[in-house]
Amino acid sequence: MRLRTLARKSVDAVLAPFHQCGHLSLGEEVSQLEHALQCAWFAQQDNAPSHIVVAALLHDIGHLLTYTETGAHPEEGDRNGYHEKIGAHFLAQHFSDEIVKPVRLHVAAKRYQVSTQESYRQSLSAASYHSFLLQGGIMDASTCHAFESSPWFADALLLRKYDERGKQVEIAESGFSQVDLNDFYELLIQHTRIVKERNTYA
Ligand SMILES: [Fe+2]
Repeated sequence: MRLRTLARKSVDAVLAPFHQCGHLSLGEEVSQLEHALQCAWFAQQDNAPSHIVVAALLHDIGHLLTYTETGAHPEEGDRNGYHEKIGAHFLAQHFSDEIVKPVRLHVAAKRYQVSTQESYRQSLSAASYHSFLLQGGIMDASTCHAFESSPWFADALLLRKYDERGKQVEIAESGFSQVDLNDFYELLIQHTRIVKERNTYA
C-alpha cells in the first residue's frame, strides 16, 4: 500500500470520532469540535510549532473516544475520565511523541499552573476548574518539580495555553474565520508516524 494511502487511513481514523460526536459539549459553551478547531487556529495564529497545532486540534480526543465507545458522557457522575491518557494511548498508534506527550500531559500542565500561579486559577473556565478537582487538584512540590524536569514540560504548557483559549462563544471578535477539519488534513498527514519515519530515513 502506498505511503500516502496509509497516512490517509491514519488521519481518517483520528478524525472519525470528531465526525461522529464532535457535537458533544462538556460543560463549556462550545462543542468539542468547535473547541478543537479554535485551539488549533489560535496555535496557528501564534505561529506555534506545527506539532503543537496538531496536538491542540487532537488533545481532547480521549473524551470523544470514551463517548463513542460507551455512549455515556465521559465525565458523568463527577468522575475523572482520564481522557488525556485514553487520547494519548490512541494517538500513539498514529503520531510520534512530539504530539502524544503534550496531549498526555495537558492535564498535568493545568494542575501545575494552578499549583504555582495564583492568577492561573482565575483564568480557568468553571468546567475546567471542576475537572481540575476531579483530576487530582493541587500538585505537591515534589510532583511540580518532577513535571518541570520533563522534556515535554514546555510543550505541555504551550498546549495548555491554547486549550484555555479555545472556548470562545464570541470567537468572531478574535478574528476567527470559520475553519473545519479539512483545513488541517494535510498537516495531519505530514505528522503521521508513517510519513515522519519515512522522512527520517529518506
Ligand atoms: Fe481542551
